[in-house]
Amino acid sequence: MQTAIVTGATRGIGKAIALKLTELHYNLVIVGRTAKLLDQIKSEIEKTGGRCLTVVADLGQENAPGHIMEKTVSHFGQMDVLVNNAGMSHSGPLLETDMETWDKVHAVNARAPFFLSKAAIPYLKVSPNPVIINIGSVVGFKGYRDQAAYASSKHALTGFTNVLAKEVQKDGIKVHLISPGGVNTEMVREMRPDIDTEQLIQPEEIAEIVEFLVTRKGKGTIDHLYIRRQSGLAFD
Ligand SMILES: NC(=O)c1ccc[n+]([C@@H]2O[C@H](COP(=O)([O-])OP(=O)(O)OC[C@H]3O[C@@H](n4cnc5c(N)ncnc54)[C@H](OP(=O)(O)O)[C@@H]3O)[C@@H](O)[C@H]2O)c1
Repeated sequence: MQTAIVTGATRGIGKAIALKLTELHYNLVIVGRTAKLLDQIKSEIEKTGGRCLTVVADLGQENAPGHIMEKTVSHFGQMDVLVNNAGMSHSGPLLETDMETWDKVHAVNARAPFFLSKAAIPYLKVSPNPVIINIGSVVGFKGYRDQAAYASSKHALTGFTNVLAKEVQKDGIKVHLISPGGVNTEMVREMRPDIDTEQLIQPEEIAEIVEFLVTRKGKGTIDHLYIRRQSGLAFD
């Protein structure tokens, strides 16, 4: 059985992706800081007959990527799909954004996917269907006011994914970036309480795109999927 790691799987998009990959019969490694929520999702997965390992880790910490990979491989013996989903947002004008906040946002959103991917590559090289999926954002291409730290971290993730995809293509490792607009999760409900949640993309829609990416057989490369909400709204 193949093994998938999903970071930020305690809620929102990551949880929906973890449940979808369980349906697809992957062993799941779910990562987040909140042990209680990870345990609840592990029971949900096990009730459906799936196998799950929880790893409590703060991706803002330097040692987290190595720790996650070590736990995964010692428990399941292999690593096939890495979904770098965990992320944190920050909303505030540039003049009110301090260096500590900028560093934390970049550590979680850009540095952790970089070093988790690096740690995963030796295992992905021997996988029958190796895939890395990075969850970016429309702000990895655009800029919205008051999102300088968040947008620059997601731009960094976009750039990194572009390079990674080319570097590991020769090893048969498929690398994809999914860049959603507003998705109905705690993150966007906190940042934009003014938005009607029915107008948002649902987390399950992102999980369906992940299903497509890990099950497709084609040799053609899909670098990037940019997912807009319905048109005519103030932002994507
Ligand atoms: N919602 C949107 O509109 C939207 C749009 C575009 C892109 N995205 C991206 O989609 C991804 C998932 O977002 P979401 O909307 O599902 O957000 P969410 O509901 O806030 O969930 C964020 C997840 O990341 C985890 N996380 C946050 N900081 C972490 C840290 N330091 N270490 C480990 N895990 C951490 C959280 O778990 P713990 O709190 O347990 O650590 C949680 O599981 C993020 O990368 C986000 O930037 C979201």
